[in-house]
Amino acid sequence: MRRFRRYGLVVGASLLLAACDRRAPGLLQTGGTEARRVARLFWIMFAMAAAVYVAVAGLIIVATLRGRRTETGKPSRVKDEAFVWVGGLVVPVAILAVLAVLTVSTTNQVRRPVAGALSVEVVGKRWWWAVTYPGTGVTTANEIHVPVGRQVRIGLDSDNVIHSFWVPQVAGKLDTVPGQHNELRLTVTKAGTYRGECAEFCGLQHANMNLVFVAQSEADFERWLVRRRSAGTGASSDLTERGLVAFERAPCAGCHTIRGTSAAGDLGPDLTDFGSRQTIGSGAVPNDTRHLTQWIVDSQTIKPGNLMPPIELDPGEVAAIVAYLESLK
Ligand code: CUA
Repeated sequence: MRRFRRYGLVVGASLLLAACDRRAPGLLQTGGTEARRVARLFWIMFAMAAAVYVAVAGLIIVATLRGRRTETGKPSRVKDEAFVWVGGLVVPVAILAVLAVLTVSTTNQVRRPVAGALSVEVVGKRWWWAVTYPGTGVTTANEIHVPVGRQVRIGLDSDNVIHSFWVPQVAGKLDTVPGQHNELRLTVTKAGTYRGECAEFCGLQHANMNLVFVAQSEADFERWLVRRRSAGTGASSDLTERGLVAFERAPCAGCHTIRGTSAAGDLGPDLTDFGSRQTIGSGAVPNDTRHLTQWIVDSQTIKPGNLMPPIELDPGEVAAIVAYLESLK
C-alpha cells in the first residue's frame, strides 16, 4: 500500500512538473490561423460540456435536497414525460447538431488552399523528419523554417510506420502514412520558434522524434533559403579539411548526404546545414561539441535503437569531423 502511495506521489509530482515545463507547447497559446480555429472550437465544446455538467449536477443536487415526492406533496410543474423527451432527446440532439456543423465547417476552413502557398515536403523517418523545399534544392532535417503570414502546404509521407506530424501551437496533427500522401495547411501569424513532435506511437524512440519549427518574416525566410542554397560545404581550415576527408572515408558518407561532397547516402539525415541546427537526434540533445562527439562515437548511448551504429574512429578523427560538421552553416 505504501509503495502505491509513493508511486502515486511520484506520478502526481511528475504531472505537476510537466504542466510547469515551459518547453512544453501550450496548445491554446496559438500562433497560427488554423490552430486558432481549432482552439475556438475547443472552447465552444468546453463551454457546452461545462453548461451540461452544471445543469445535470444542479438537478441532482435539487433532487437530493428535495427528497422523494409524496402523494400528499405539491405536484411538480414539469410533466415527467415532457422532461424525459426534452432533456433526453431534444437538448442532446440540438447540442450535437450545433457541434457537428461547427466541426465540419472548422475542418473545411483549416483545409482550404490559398494561392501562393509555400510547399514543404516532410517524410517521417525512424525517428526523425526529412524536410525538403521543392524546386529550391534545399534539404534539411528536424528543423522547418516558414514565412509568417503566408500559407504553407506541408506534404506528409512515411517510408516506414505511421507517424503523426504535430506543431500544436500552429495547426492540428496529421499522420504520415506509408503509401499515402497527406497534406497539411497552416498559416503562422506570430513569428517565433515552436516545438513540434511526433504524435503517434511509432516505436522505441517515439518520444525523441521532435522538431524545431521556426516562423520568421518573409524577408528573413528568403534570406535563410538563399543561404541554405548557396552555403559552401568545403573545408575552411586544416582541421575541417581533415574532418571532411575522414567523413568521406568513414562509414558516415554511406548514410548521410552533404551537398558538394562525395557523401551521398540517404539512410540518415542530410547534413548539408548541420552546423546551423539547434538539436542532434531530432531534439534528443542540444547541438554542441560535447553531444556531437558523443553522438558520433556511439549515438546509441543518447538515442538507443536509432539506425546509426557506433563508429570506430581515433579521437583525432572524431574531433576533426566534429569541427567540420559544426562549420556547415
Ligand atoms: Cu514517429 Cu512517434
